[in-house]
Amino acid sequence: MPVTVTVPATTANLGPGFDCLGLALSLHNTVVLEITPGGLTVLVEGEGVGALPVDESNLVVRAIKRLFAFCGRPVPGLHITLRNRIPVASGLGGSAAAVLGGLLAANHFLDQPLPLDDILTLATGMEGHPDNVAPALYGGLVLVNEHDGRLLVEPVRVPPLRAVVVLPDVDLPTLEARAILPAKVPLADAVFNAGRAALLVHALSQGDYDKLSVAMQDRVHQPYRIPLIPGMPQAFTAAMDAGAAGVALSGAGPSVVAFAAGSHQTIAEAMVRTFAAKGLDSRVWILEVDTAGSSVRCD
Ligand code: HSE
Repeated sequence: MPVTVTVPATTANLGPGFDCLGLALSLHNTVVLEITPGGLTVLVEGEGVGALPVDESNLVVRAIKRLFAFCGRPVPGLHITLRNRIPVASGLGGSAAAVLGGLLAANHFLDQPLPLDDILTLATGMEGHPDNVAPALYGGLVLVNEHDGRLLVEPVRVPPLRAVVVLPDVDLPTLEARAILPAKVPLADAVFNAGRAALLVHALSQGDYDKLSVAMQDRVHQPYRIPLIPGMPQAFTAAMDAGAAGVALSGAGPSVVAFAAGSHQTIAEAMVRTFAAKGLDSRVWILEVDTAGSSVRCD
């Protein structure tokens, strides 16, 4: 019987919460896994058709094999269908969704030998970004801290919140967006970010949109990354002028996320215009918070 795993997109960092804060969003990838007598077939539908590999190098396949190997079990034949709605390499957690989809599907076939904490550790080892992996697994807003080599994950309840996501048509691999960051930041910037990150968690948990314009400010990663994306500085300004409560790069970019109580379409159109002025097409999603996280079902 096939197993179906559904994993939400995520927006990591949210401005000041670099590498420690992420939010799950209502845009999902689905992995359908069937065990076969032998061989490997991968079908991709939706996002990533023609771009994602359909062989052993596919990230979902690697995650499935990782789980079987971790449990000391031989890898069976695999027939995998990927129904992707999260755009590839967009800053919306597509890699985390692929890794979790594979690990959770394989875990189901092994009668769930691993608890979710171990899935989180394995997924983070493969994907590298717990601020994407943890909210994708648990849903909602999640704080992630590393302590003594372990991940401390703290879900924070947030009231319903609506996000405008705009993705300009530009290549910005996460590796490149990390390589540009300085090894050290000034003490004043560290203090600035610590204060904003704390305020942001408070504001989101209270649904206090009025504090987001300050709470989503960041001096640790965005000042270095925003100039890599044509039209992005103007998109931030356009979003706020159009009524956004706060705006941030989504993960390492190139997508951008703005939160607002209303005027979502207007905010989206304002950002789209700034990218168009630089000759870039862009795509828009208006999304809710996903509170369910990853789910597994058998049809
Ligand atoms: N926190 C990571 C970064 C997220 O900003 O590089 C990557 O999606």
